[in-house]
Amino acid sequence: TGAITVDEGFVNTGSTLSAITFLDGEKGILRYRGYPIETLAEHCDFVEVCYLLLHGELPTADQIAAFRTDLRQHTMLHEDMRKFYDGFQHDAHPMAILSSVIHALSTFYADSLDVTDEKDVQRCTMRLLAKAPTIAAYAHKKSIGHPFVYPKNDQGYCENFLHMMFSVPAEDYVVNPIHAQALNLLLIVHADHEQNCSTSTVRMVGSSDANLFASIAAGVAALSGPLHGGANEACVSMLERIREDGGDVDKYVRMAKDKSNGFRLMGFGHRVYKSFDPRATIIKKTCHDLLDSGHIDDPIFEIALKLEEVALTDEYFVERQLYPNVDFYSGVIYRALGIPVDMFTVLFAMGRMPGWIAHWQEMRQSPGKRIYRPRQIYTGPTEREFVPMEKR
Ligand code: CMC
Repeated sequence: TGAITVDEGFVNTGSTLSAITFLDGEKGILRYRGYPIETLAEHCDFVEVCYLLLHGELPTADQIAAFRTDLRQHTMLHEDMRKFYDGFQHDAHPMAILSSVIHALSTFYADSLDVTDEKDVQRCTMRLLAKAPTIAAYAHKKSIGHPFVYPKNDQGYCENFLHMMFSVPAEDYVVNPIHAQALNLLLIVHADHEQNCSTSTVRMVGSSDANLFASIAAGVAALSGPLHGGANEACVSMLERIREDGGDVDKYVRMAKDKSNGFRLMGFGHRVYKSFDPRATIIKKTCHDLLDSGHIDDPIFEIALKLEEVALTDEYFVERQLYPNVDFYSGVIYRALGIPVDMFTVLFAMGRMPGWIAHWQEMRQSPGKRIYRPRQIYTGPTEREFVPMEKR
């Protein structure tokens, strides 16, 4: 105890020790378990990165084969869970569905309630990683009124997700390997980002010994806000609006500088990165690759490039060290894959899943684990005299 200092937004408050992700915002460095994000994006698939984040080491061939087999055994949703989807409005936001259905997993798996049993925790971890794409794809199918497509377990993680998203019973659907590869890269760059809002939420909820599904459902809710994961959806909507408005990027840069209207450039700025966001660099390069190979033909990419150029040379943005973040270009790729805009943040959540779980486990295993319980400085009235209703 002692004097309490307030750090609104936790700008300088370290909430924990962590051995999962290293981030240097001045130099634009991001490493998972010591491996640079660029290296992992080039050499690994998302499932290997899940293994790395969860176990701390890159897997051997045998370890990853066993991990993949384990994942495949958990891709199905309990048939009764399908009925939940009937209860949601047809235009319900898929992030709300994702959060609700993940939380509801604890009603189907009683073993999730004992957070102290390591075997149970491992099983729930695999369930969550395996079922997240199924829950997400069902949310999309629900929104367009199509029948749900069961997981196909002979496919890779990304291929299976695209299959569940885009297969229709009346047609043969073959996953485009370039799309699967792009999705794989996006999931990797989203996989962890130390103590961001949603990850801190997962740790906070989990610190009360709430189960894994409850903690992750809370993380999904935190991610949904437009200042966090919801920025990818908001960014594409903004780029679309600029395009419809004649492509005048200068006007939007001016608007973003004007504090009276509440408008911000979505996909710009970051609490920690003050030179560039290495994830944005990787994603922008992938956009160019997809453009060169004819897989992107989207006018909003041109708008994004122009907007970035204008903002990066504008004094307001330079002074405040505001650069494109992970959400600035990711939507361009999602659109190229045919993913509808309201699913963008759901894909962010699918990517962040191993990071959230790794943090939940690290928090639980910490020798000094205690319930998270920040303090405050009270600013309300001092003790007041009670006034009976008839005298108020
Ligand atoms: N457009 C215009 N001005 C901005 C922007 C922006 N995108 N971002 C920050 N600023 C200004 C802000 O008005 C403030 O100016 P001043 O010092 O004159 O008051 C200054 O820059 C510092 O901003 P802040 O809000 O104090 O910074 P923060 O660290 O609290 O917020 C942020 C970080 C990411 C929430 C913020 O930059 C933002 O709102 N960006 C747009 C939303 C976005 O792209 N979010 C995704 C973040 S990355 C992925 C993720 O976390 O999910």
